[in-house]
Amino acid sequence: MDEAYIATVMDRLDRKVTRMIDQIGEKCPHFAGVDGKYDSTGTDWWTSGFWPGLLWLMHDMTGGTQYRDAAWHWDETLERWFSREDGHLHHDVGFQFLATAVIKHKLTGDGEALRRGLTGANYLAARFNPAGGFIRAWNGDHYGWAIVDCMMNISLLFWASETTGDPRYRHIAIRHAETTLQYGIREDGSVKHILSFDPTSGEYLENFGGQGAAADSSWSRGTAWALHGFANTYRHSGDVRFLNAAKRIAHYFVASLPDDHVPYWDFRLDTFENEPRDSSAAAIAASGLLEIADAVPDKEKHGYLAAAHRILHSLTERYATWDEPEHEAILLHGTGHKPQNHFVDGSLIYGDYYYAESFAKLSGWKHRMY
Ligand code: GLY
Repeated sequence: MDEAYIATVMDRLDRKVTRMIDQIGEKCPHFAGVDGKYDSTGTDWWTSGFWPGLLWLMHDMTGGTQYRDAAWHWDETLERWFSREDGHLHHDVGFQFLATAVIKHKLTGDGEALRRGLTGANYLAARFNPAGGFIRAWNGDHYGWAIVDCMMNISLLFWASETTGDPRYRHIAIRHAETTLQYGIREDGSVKHILSFDPTSGEYLENFGGQGAAADSSWSRGTAWALHGFANTYRHSGDVRFLNAAKRIAHYFVASLPDDHVPYWDFRLDTFENEPRDSSAAAIAASGLLEIADAVPDKEKHGYLAAAHRILHSLTERYATWDEPEHEAILLHGTGHKPQNHFVDGSLIYGDYYYAESFAKLSGWKHRMY
C-alpha cells in the first residue's frame, strides 16, 4: 500500500463518515445487519464511545467542524450514567471515556472533558483487586473474573497518571497487565477470554471460553484486543515484557489468518465451513500491528507493517461498503458474540472505528486515545 492509496482511503473515509453523521443522527450505533441500518443501543453499553471516537479522529485528521460538532456532547451523555442506578458501566469505561472525554480534552483542552475522563479513571481504578492483581470484569457476583479485552481499557489509567502526575493509576494498569500476561496469554501466543480468580485469596482458578468457542479455543477478537492492548501498554510503560507479549500474540494472529487476511470469529474451530468472519478483529489487530511497527527497531518494522497492510488492503477491497452509500457502516462481516448468536455477520461500530484509526496512523496521526 503506497501513500497515494492511503490518501485515497482517507478521502473515502472523509466522505463516508460525513454522510454517516446524517444517517446516524441521534442514534448510539452498535450493530447493523443486512438492511445496512445501525441500531441504537443504550449509551451505557460498552460500545457507546466508538462513534464519537470516530468523529473526533476524523476531526483531528481533516479539521472538519461537522465531526467536532457531532462528537461534542458525548462525554457529558456518558458521564450521566455514574449517577443512575439502572446504568451498566463497568471495566469498559476505558473504551467509553478514552474515545470521548480523553480525546476531546487532548484536542480541545476542555476542562469538563478532563474532569470526566478522570472520573472514569477513578471508577476503573476502584475495580482493582489487589489480592489477585486484576481489574474485575463486568458487574454481578463474579467478583473474581477478569477478561482479556480489559487490556485496552487500562490506557485510561496510564492517561490519568500522565495527566495528573499521580502514579497510582499506572501501578494498577501495570499490575493488571502482568496478571493478564501470566494467566491469560498462552505460550503459543493465543489468548484466553475470561480468567477466574478467587476474589479473596487472589488464587488463579480457571478460564472460560466467553465469546470464544471453548475454554481451550482462540477467540480472534480477544486475540486482537490483547495484541493492541499489550502494544499500548509498552508505549505507556516502556516495559519490554509487554512489547514481547504483543509481538508473540501478533505472530500467532498473523500465522492463523485465512487467505484473505480477515479471521473467522475463532481461530480454533473443527471446521470453518459456514462460520462467519470477524472483520472487527482484523481492524483492531491491524491498528495494533502498526503500534508494534512503531515500537520496534527499523530493521524489524517491515514484517509488522506488511501484515497490517495486507489486512487493511483486504478490508478496503473486499469488506467495505464504498459502493453502497445508503449503508450506514464502513465494514461488513463483523461478529460480536457468536456463542450467543448475537450480532453475527454484520457491521460493528468498533470495527469501523479501528479501521479508520489504522488509516489515520498510516497517515501520520499523532494523537493516540489508547
Ligand atoms: N466485550 C468486548 C468485545 O465484545 O469484544
